[in-house]
Amino acid sequence: MPAASNALSNIDSALPQTFEVRPFSGAVGAEIIGLDLTRPVNADDFSRIHRAHLDHHVLVFRDQRITPQQQIDFSRRFGELQIHVLKQFLLAGHPEILIVSNIIEDGRNLGLGDAGKFWHSDLSYKELPSLGSMLHAQELPSEGGDTLFADMHKAWDAVPDALRKIIAGRDAAHSYTARYAETKFAGNWRPTLSAEQLAQVQEVIHPVVRTHPETGRKALFVSEGFTTRIVGLPDDESRDVLQQLYALSVLEQNIYRHQWQPHDLVFWDNRSLIHLASGCPAHLRRKLYRTTIQGDAPF
Ligand code: SIN
Repeated sequence: MPAASNALSNIDSALPQTFEVRPFSGAVGAEIIGLDLTRPVNADDFSRIHRAHLDHHVLVFRDQRITPQQQIDFSRRFGELQIHVLKQFLLAGHPEILIVSNIIEDGRNLGLGDAGKFWHSDLSYKELPSLGSMLHAQELPSEGGDTLFADMHKAWDAVPDALRKIIAGRDAAHSYTARYAETKFAGNWRPTLSAEQLAQVQEVIHPVVRTHPETGRKALFVSEGFTTRIVGLPDDESRDVLQQLYALSVLEQNIYRHQWQPHDLVFWDNRSLIHLASGCPAHLRRKLYRTTIQGDAPF
């Protein structure tokens, strides 16, 4: 297993923690019970968490009373952090944190209110998409607000041979702006992008099927949120093939629905999963802090 970068200086002397990795009964995911991320995590414990992340793709760390800085420090153990293009929704003093929230205060949107409105893998529209993201619950609605995760390795397994032949060796285009302004949740959450922001989100090309750089497993790497076309196919065929791949990506049996509990920290692998915010009634407050860890160029 490759060493994680940016390890904190005090991890060598950190005491081991007693914690359990409890896999969910369904498709993917595991709970981490008993670990306290306000305390330093030593190298052995970190390596167990890293292994669990690779095995289960989404980890739910229960009851984490961490500060934004502690979330950033823990996230950095897995790699460099990516700063979101929507600077207006970064946490003051902590630009590594994107505020995901539907709250409006003094006429101002506190965060990105419709993040995750379509199935997607975070930052697949960048040359270096995200390895994984961490979302920490700050305020939760009494109803709704779940996040769904779908296993893209199982999606690949489900692709029939005829479709495999069509997508073999092909790339797809990903664009941040393609569905940027489309309304799905109540409210107009999307600020107009400046020329500087647009320059940061130019269309990129990635393989339709990627190989996970740490496990070697193949996964579909297209999503309705950011993928716009399959390079080299006529438009109508590209649209048709993508619709078939999207349908295979979200088979009920391959989905984990996360129902948030107070102080949950959820850490998923964007190389193995796509995710979707289910939304909540507009009058209920929802606020989470997201860190996004940079990954490798997909191959
Ligand atoms: C996201 O896509 O990062 C946000 C997911 C959510 O709000 O549930």
